[in-house]
Amino acid sequence: MPETILTNEDFAKMVETSDEWITTRTGIKQRRIASDEQTTAVLASEAARRALADAGMQADELDLIIVATITPEMVFPSTACFVQNTIGAVNAWAFDLSAACSGFVYGLSIAQQFIGAGRYRTAMVIGAETLSRITDYTDRGSCILFGDGAGAVILKADHNGSSMGVMYSTAFSDGGGWTSLHCKAYGSRYPVGKPLPDPKMVYMTINGKEVYYTAVRRIVELVKECLEKCDLDVKDISLFIPHQMNARIIESVGKRLNFNNEQIFINIDKFGNTSAASIPIAFNEARQTGRLKKNDIVLLVAFGGGLTWGANVIQL
Ligand SMILES: CC(C)(COP(=O)(O)OP(=O)(O)OC[C@H]1O[C@@H](n2cnc3c(N)ncnc32)[C@H](O)[C@@H]1OP(=O)(O)O)[C@@H](O)C(=O)NCCC(=O)NCCS
Repeated sequence: MPETILTNEDFAKMVETSDEWITTRTGIKQRRIASDEQTTAVLASEAARRALADAGMQADELDLIIVATITPEMVFPSTACFVQNTIGAVNAWAFDLSAACSGFVYGLSIAQQFIGAGRYRTAMVIGAETLSRITDYTDRGSCILFGDGAGAVILKADHNGSSMGVMYSTAFSDGGGWTSLHCKAYGSRYPVGKPLPDPKMVYMTINGKEVYYTAVRRIVELVKECLEKCDLDVKDISLFIPHQMNARIIESVGKRLNFNNEQIFINIDKFGNTSAASIPIAFNEARQTGRLKKNDIVLLVAFGGGLTWGANVIQL
């Protein structure tokens, strides 16, 4: 996580808002903001290094690196190639994945498929974002939501015949809903060489209300599907780690599904919405604070721009 903190009080000096409004509507108290030097690849590489150290592994053991991001280092090459080079993962192939806030759960699903098929033994999935670079700090309806950060996990083939690991993954997209959440420039439709119809097109635009209700509905569906396919009950889930988009959305989902509060992990108060990075950041904090132990079943769920949504059930 970048060191610089932007609090709700800071926002109250920038736009017409208050700590009380932001806290009650979103659960966010502060978020981290990357410095100019802390690009997406820098944050992603640091997360990668820490994951390797934590796993007691060397970078050359990695076969695959996936970076989920909507704020890549450059148009090309991919952020993943920068990470590969920085950490010295000389045996890995590397690519970026663009699925907005669902990027990490999509990435985990893809990595698991490659390992499950026996093609690769070791994969790293990173969620990394510098959303502050595409945030309109004059739009009070969106700027208060987003923060920067990165997190990484390593998946390894298991030849012990146990069922541990990614037990189940599911993913969906609905391109028809793209207008709810987007950043139009710069790309092929609005290339950098031509004047933009609206200079604000370089920033994220969200239809908060629309996203809010669709997210609740889709996340509830995802959880029900995961439980049914894995033959699990809500009480079998040790920890539910949803994408941190809004504490009210998470609490509303929790109530509808009868999760108790101890089962739900929320750290949006400290980091805001970090899109693809939010789940690995939360997962790491859950580990560091002793919320996860061996054999636990963890449910990861995300919803975001695309529209995209998906989930992974993991046994530790
Ligand atoms: C953005 C979000 C917090 C807004 O909360 P909301 O309860 O839906 O609020 P609304 O947008 O209806 O706005 C209600 C009022 O608050 C005002 N408002 C918006 N942002 C505000 C702010 N930061 N401070 C104070 N007032 C604000 C609005 O202008 C509106 O005023 P009006 O009633 O006079 O028109 C909420 O919709 C949300 O979290 N949505 C999903 C977020 C998302 O898309 N995340 C990215 C995808 S993962």
